[in-house]
Order: sequence, then structure tokens, then C-alpha cells
Amino acid sequence: MIRIPEKVTREEYEVWYAGSEELRREVAADPRRLAYHLMPPTGWMNDPNGLCQLDGVYHIYYQYSPFDATGERKLWGHYSTRDFVHYVDGGPVLFPDLDRDAQGVFSGSALTEQGQMHLFYTGNVLYTDRDDYDYINSGRGSNTIAVTSRDGQHMTEKELLLTSEDYPKDMSRHVRDPKVFKRNGRYYMVLGARSVEDRGLVLLYISDDRKHWTYKSRITLEESFGYMWECPDLFELDGQWFLTCCPQGVPTQGIEYENVYQNVWMQLDCDLDSDRCQIRKVRTIDRGCDFYAQQTFLDEKGRRILIGWMGMADTEYGNPTTDSGWQHALTLPRELTAREGRLLQNPIEELKQLRDGAGTEYALQMDKVCSVGEVPLLYEALADFGQCDRLTMRLRGDVTLTYEEHILTLDTGSSGAGRPPRHVYLEKLSYLQIFVDTTSVEIFVNHGEEVFSSRIYSFLPALSAEGAIAGTLTVYPLKGFAVEVR
Ligand code: FRU
Repeated sequence: MIRIPEKVTREEYEVWYAGSEELRREVAADPRRLAYHLMPPTGWMNDPNGLCQLDGVYHIYYQYSPFDATGERKLWGHYSTRDFVHYVDGGPVLFPDLDRDAQGVFSGSALTEQGQMHLFYTGNVLYTDRDDYDYINSGRGSNTIAVTSRDGQHMTEKELLLTSEDYPKDMSRHVRDPKVFKRNGRYYMVLGARSVEDRGLVLLYISDDRKHWTYKSRITLEESFGYMWECPDLFELDGQWFLTCCPQGVPTQGIEYENVYQNVWMQLDCDLDSDRCQIRKVRTIDRGCDFYAQQTFLDEKGRRILIGWMGMADTEYGNPTTDSGWQHALTLPRELTAREGRLLQNPIEELKQLRDGAGTEYALQMDKVCSVGEVPLLYEALADFGQCDRLTMRLRGDVTLTYEEHILTLDTGSSGAGRPPRHVYLEKLSYLQIFVDTTSVEIFVNHGEEVFSSRIYSFLPALSAEGAIAGTLTVYPLKGFAVEVR
């Protein structure tokens, strides 16, 4: 039985906000709040949306349900920053207040042009007048809607671009998450979709004026790869084309695709004008238990930055913070680069500002335990291996990272609140960059070849490394970032 949420207007939200001071205080006082990750002030957060930089300011919108930690009604929340360490919490800016987005202002993207931000999103609609409608397979109504903004806070009136009737006839109603970009004077939009035959794919639309959109082609794999691809993003990086998306319904294959829903980058041969986009390679972006719905954008320095949702829907594991009225967070921002047809992800340079004092270097020696004495609760650790044939690291409580016979395993133990171990095959392990926050860990492997993101719920500081290893371990205590509420 689907509970049908009512519309939410800004005025209704403001009444709720004025009456929810105690909830805000309780959530803020939770020791499990992260120190240098974006979280919902109260309630639920999922996908990052509308990522962009305009006149020096980075805008990070997100799927936000302020009212409840289970995420019933989706608004767009807003954070902004100039340096990724001082943030302004701008509160919700887009509300499900029209018939065409009544059941949620779902995910979407931003395009900046001539000092303006153009935001595109999916207006989600339930058919309240139909009793026997099959929402699971047929999907909800999905409208593609646009607004513009100069300051990221004030939006123009919502403009309807496409409705469920406009998508190709062999699509189910599951069409959503518009990502728009401009190239050679034309606008392109990718939308995630599920066909009536339950095949996941991406629809490509084209426009000359950002208002009238024509279906152009689709990107998919010949063999079936899940029933639905959510949150697509198409971009060229260092002369190579990549599609990132989140396929649902891909079966686990050994240590591949271990999560309930997947996140992948696909390397493509792509010529937008000749309708030819062929997928050459498919790889998981992040192998941790808490990563989904990533989005990228090009900043004013020309960097392609990716942020993901540090969470996952429909899991058997959860977040103990739900009982305290909030859950989920966004990942650290990562800079993307491409090398030999491969996408690499590394934490953005700005995060070095979080380092609280000089790093301490420890020697990693063959079969000797390297144990860090006073482990800070928040830290960044860099392990540079001259040699690593076998490794066991403890990162916090009973969270371990092991490397044996080319398999790197993150086991969050009892600290993972039900999260199972996750794995990756490596030719060689040469480098690790690890960020530990109060209740999260992000591990960048071999300078961004692989990443694991996971929530962890232990407050027992620990950091040690042992095995058939040689090299150095450098540890920086980290400090939290600042968030000012507008
Ligand atoms: C991905 C997703 C999107 C959708 C949004 C709704 O997590 O399911 O496809 O737009 O979340 O919150």
C-alpha cells in the first residue's frame, strides 16, 4: 500500500520549521553527526542534485525530506560553498507544490549560462484516481520540469518541458533524473529509463533553446544489464566519453555488483551528432555499501567533480541514526580524470584544508605491526607501499581492510550495523588514501583506481597496519568544516 503524501508548499514548510526547533536541536546534538560531510539538518537526504559553480560559488542541491528520516516527500535542499570547507545551509528551495510534481521534486541537474542557473528535475506524480495501477512495474508519472535562478535560492516559475506521454512509446513510466549539458551550441539531456521490456537504458534528447526537446537516441548495452538505469550523466573527459549511471536489477557476479543497486561508469565511443554511442567498458565507481546516485559537474577551473549519495535504498542494513530523526550524507567531492580509458577519482585538493596540524609518518615494515599511538577520531591516512603482498589494517573499532591474493576487502564488522564485507580485485596494491569521519570511511585505492564508501558506527579509535608490507603510513588529524544556516 503506497502512502500518498500531500503537496508541500513553502509556507507549510515554514510553519513546520518554526515548530520543529526541538527536533533540530536533538539532531544537531547527535554524536553520530559527521564533521566534514554534508547531511540533512533533520530527516532524510539522498541524491546530490543540480551540482554547479556560478560566479565562484559552488551549489550543491540534494534530495531532502526534512520531516522524517524515512524520506517520504522529496524537496530540493541547498548547500553552497566557495571553498568546500565553509558552507551555507540554504534550506529547501524547491517544493512539491504543483499537481505535476506533487509526489516529489525528484532528481535533476543544473546548467549555468550567462550568469544564470538552469535547473532541470523530475516532477513525480502518483495516479491517485486509479485504484489498480501497478506502480512497481509501470512506474509513476514523470514530468521533466525546469526553473532558473541567479542566486541559487530564488527560483522562477516552474516550466513543464516533457510529460510521461512524450517519452518513446516503448518506455515504462520510469523515466527520470534529467542531466543537461551544452556542446557546440546545442543542448543535450540524458534521462534514466526502464523500457516496457524491463531493460535499463538512457534516453538522449536534444534542444536548440533549452525549452523544446526532441528525442534523439538511446544508449544501452546489447545484453540486458538491469531493468532500470537511474541518475545518468554523460560527459567527455580528457578526450574520452563516459556515461555514469545507477543500474537496478543487476545480479551479483562473484565479487562484482555486491550491492542491491549498482553504480557504474561506462566508457563510450560516442558521436552525439551521428546517434552513435557504443559502450566499451563497464566498471563500478564505488564498491562500498553506501554509495549511489552520483552526479558530476565541470567547475570554473575546468575540473570534473563527482559527488555521490553516501547511502543506498532498499538495503537489509540501515543507519542507527534513523531513531534520532535523521539519516544519510553526501560523499566527499572527488575530482575525476581519465587514463587509458579508465576513470580515476581522487579527493579534491581543497580537502587538505581539513588537515589539523602536520602529519605524522610511520614506517611500514615486513611482518611488524605498525600501530598508531593516539589515534584521532577524525583522520586522513596515506599508505604508500613500496611493497604490499598481504595486508591487514584496522581503521576504527572492528573495521578492517585486508589484502590477500589480489583481493582487497573492506569488512566493517559489527561497526557496520549489518553491512556485509565488500571486495575488489587488484593487480597490485600500491597506495591508499583513507578518510575517517565520526561515522563514515572513504577509501581511495591506487590514486583513485577504486573507491569504497561506507558508514561505520563505532567510536573506538584504532589505526594499525601489518603484513607483508614495506613503505610509509602518514596520518593527519582532521577538523570538521563550518556550516552556517541562512
Ligand atoms: C535515486 C532516485 C532517483 C529519483 C530520486 C528520488 O536514488 O531513485 O531516480 O529521482 O532517487 O528521490
